[in-house]
Amino acid sequence: MKLLCPSIMCADFSSLQEEISALEEANVTMYHCDIMDGVFVPNFTMGLNDVKAIRGLTKKVVDCHLMIENPLSKIDLFIDAGADLLYVHPESERYISKTLMHIKNRGKLSGLAINPDTSIESIKEVIGLADYILVMTVNPGFAGQAFLDFTKEKIKKLNELKNQYSYKIIADGACSPAVIQELDNLGCDGYVLGTSALFGKNRSYKQLIEELQIL
Ligand code: DX5
Ligand code: ZN
Repeated sequence: MKLLCPSIMCADFSSLQEEISALEEANVTMYHCDIMDGVFVPNFTMGLNDVKAIRGLTKKVVDCHLMIENPLSKIDLFIDAGADLLYVHPESERYISKTLMHIKNRGKLSGLAINPDTSIESIKEVIGLADYILVMTVNPGFAGQAFLDFTKEKIKKLNELKNQYSYKIIADGACSPAVIQELDNLGCDGYVLGTSALFGKNRSYKQLIEELQIL
């Protein structure tokens, strides 16, 4: 089974409850919440109240992708709001191992999110501290961008390293059905689903998710 993680910032916030219940019905794996501070990325999307609201609507894993500067001091806020998995960017923190260890010490799943121009070599010391690696396949900050082809090489390398570690690889950005099919063959375990595969399609989430699972 692919790990399928809807990007909630792409959902219709005027009927969040209906959106989550349709996604539950579709049996998605977890909910992906994009948190931006306007500095690490030039945009704002979801915040603590959104995470709390989603937490109240599901028992599935809620992940927070923290696209914020110096996340360490804010981790507890997101855990207290209900996050089970927290992704942090090595580019956003001076001592990223401290942040990853803090997440684990709080009993939560740790995630490393890596930008398209961040190499595996630059995170290799801390890779063993991550339960999930979120490979950005677009530059973070906006939905609806074009897939960056050169990120495939990184997914391939991370897959080769997998037997030494226990992380799962998730791709984030422009994951269309065609991209998912291609990345699946490279050993990718899961996908953040935004406008390219799930939202705004005028088709039921259940049907779309079923189709992605059997690709
Ligand atoms: C950024 C987001 C997006 C996004 C993906 O971190 O997670 O990349 O919503 O969806 P699309 O398919 O619109 O790129
Ligand atoms: Zn994301």
